[in-house]
Amino acid sequence: MAYPFQITSLEQYHRDYKRSAEDPEGFWAEVAENFLWRKKWDRVLNWNFTEPKVEWFGGAKLNITENAIDRHLATMRDKPAIIWEPNNPEERTRVVTYERLHKRVCQFAQVLKNNGVKKGDRVCIYMGMVPELAYAVLGCARIGAIHSVIFGGFSARSIADRLDDAQAEYIVTCDGAYRGAKDIPLKSLIDDALIGNKTVKRVIVYTRTRTPVSMIKGRDVWWEDEMEHAESQVEKNGVVSFPAEEMDAEDPLFILYTSGSTGKPKGVVHSTAGYMLWTTYTFVNVFQYKPGDIHFCTADIGWITGHSYIVYGPLCAGATSVMFEGIPTWPDAGRFWDIIDKHQVNILYTAPTAIRSLMGFGHEPLEGKHLASLKVLGTVGEPINEEAWHWYDENIGKKQCPVVDTWWQTETGGTLISNLAGVTPEKPSWASLPMPGIIPLLVNEDGSEVTEKDEDGVMKGNLCIAAPWPGILRTTYGDHERCRTNYFATYPGMYFTGDGALKDDQGNYRITGRVDDVLNVSGHRIGTAEVENAINMHSGVVESAVVGYPHDIKGQGIYAFVIYNHAHINDELTRQDIQQTVTRIIGPIAKPDKIQFVHGLPKTRSGKIMRRILRKIAEADFDHLGDISTLLDPGVVEEIKNGRI
Ligand code: WT7
Repeated sequence: MAYPFQITSLEQYHRDYKRSAEDPEGFWAEVAENFLWRKKWDRVLNWNFTEPKVEWFGGAKLNITENAIDRHLATMRDKPAIIWEPNNPEERTRVVTYERLHKRVCQFAQVLKNNGVKKGDRVCIYMGMVPELAYAVLGCARIGAIHSVIFGGFSARSIADRLDDAQAEYIVTCDGAYRGAKDIPLKSLIDDALIGNKTVKRVIVYTRTRTPVSMIKGRDVWWEDEMEHAESQVEKNGVVSFPAEEMDAEDPLFILYTSGSTGKPKGVVHSTAGYMLWTTYTFVNVFQYKPGDIHFCTADIGWITGHSYIVYGPLCAGATSVMFEGIPTWPDAGRFWDIIDKHQVNILYTAPTAIRSLMGFGHEPLEGKHLASLKVLGTVGEPINEEAWHWYDENIGKKQCPVVDTWWQTETGGTLISNLAGVTPEKPSWASLPMPGIIPLLVNEDGSEVTEKDEDGVMKGNLCIAAPWPGILRTTYGDHERCRTNYFATYPGMYFTGDGALKDDQGNYRITGRVDDVLNVSGHRIGTAEVENAINMHSGVVESAVVGYPHDIKGQGIYAFVIYNHAHINDELTRQDIQQTVTRIIGPIAKPDKIQFVHGLPKTRSGKIMRRILRKIAEADFDHLGDISTLLDPGVVEEIKNGRI
């Protein structure tokens, strides 16, 4: 497959960028010509950020799976679409060609249909990283059902909240999932999540770990049985087919829940056509994908990175995507490097937290690893510190591979700011230049554009985007007003990212981190309010305040200040109880790293917790606590300082 929209020189980048800003409709219509449409659009773009309303390719009809699969069959039937690497390296690899992927997706679409799933229905997918997860996602897209994938690290309670918010009627899960030395009992967590649930009609269970599961009559069915039955329905005389549902460009493709500064996760909704264009365009350009390259994105499909750069972007580009079931440190810290050599990976896309963690194991895990197939390295999820950037560049890329630092968000669908591998200049720890179609703007707290520069010519402000790109979120599920207030109301007329950023005099951006009450722990977004709500569920807790603090490996750690009313015998035991509570309510990913028991929290006279002060204390930056005289009880600050852990 050729990519006429691939940017191959710095001059072309500047040319395309300029053109995309001056004539977005013309520019994106040209890119759109490279996709398969049942019917072309009436209008390329229609938008306002007040409602907000964003429509790309209005009136067009398509199905994304015909773009991700069917159109490749003529020329790439036998090409691997997915190379699956199991958790246990002793188990065999599975190679899924485009032909096989087509068959499995058709089969699973038929399974969904047989079970009553219709266009627009919400299907929750809670599975480990097995190829069947990709079949499930694409099977939904094929019949026009809206998938909502939930990461395996979320608790039953979190699943229940998401099922309820999405009013999901169907679930696809596994008996269990392997992650390193652990087995996660997915089906059993689903069973817990379904206690009291009244909307879910059907649970389809794929067998992976052979963990005993309880199958409820009339509700639960086995994946294997359903697939076998569907096979004879979709395959006639050796020809496989299942007609793809004709979707509107703006029909929702999926919901993905993410944390914000309020207690309740939001269901970010992405469209069909715009998301398809954006993930494919950014995939091909950022990584400079060449036909035949093997792309390895280490994310989990439970997060947006996996949706966009394991499944949709690569497959729409006809690429080969490696899907890894396990974790980087099991059975040893050389696992990524073994996978790269084994599958001759050309592009490695991972998170700074993984790099920092692997860095900590020193050189030994790298001994005997060639890594000679690598051409491009990428990072995503959080700011990358210079030390980790250089370690990655020197030890993994052997200084031969461009490193792309891709900045984006669940809401943006794909990368907004990044260098293009080997095409635009890299700058360690800077995401660098915006993609064509992206108009970033730095604003002050009052919404005015930042104009002031420091002595090095660097500007600093809150990062907004001034106009829509094809991959922008369309709404938050079931609550459009929430979408408006969260992203479009802080600075009217602009999309507000929630991030702070620097801009140098070359136009490069460096993302400095969240400016709202959202933490980024190991590249996972967690709202402080959510963690506080969970801690406060513990019977002995009166009140709590959660802040982030710098953590060597996770980027940010979770620091909780807790007022506890019961006399407790043992602080350590109580801490473990609180962690257990958070694990139950949200999931293990939100467990606080540090819990400090306090008698009071720093509050203003109106009762607002001064997190700024707590953040400084958590960072041990006692000299910059700022003015504490306006606090209701300035005395608490001294106590908290002294008790810091
Ligand atoms: C937040 C979005 C994008 C997929 C994974 C995370 C931070 C993301 C970078 C980067 C600095 C980054 C931002 C952003 N972030 N990439 N390259 N440099 N910060 O998606 O869970 O939606 O989180 O991750 O703070 O707002 P997410």
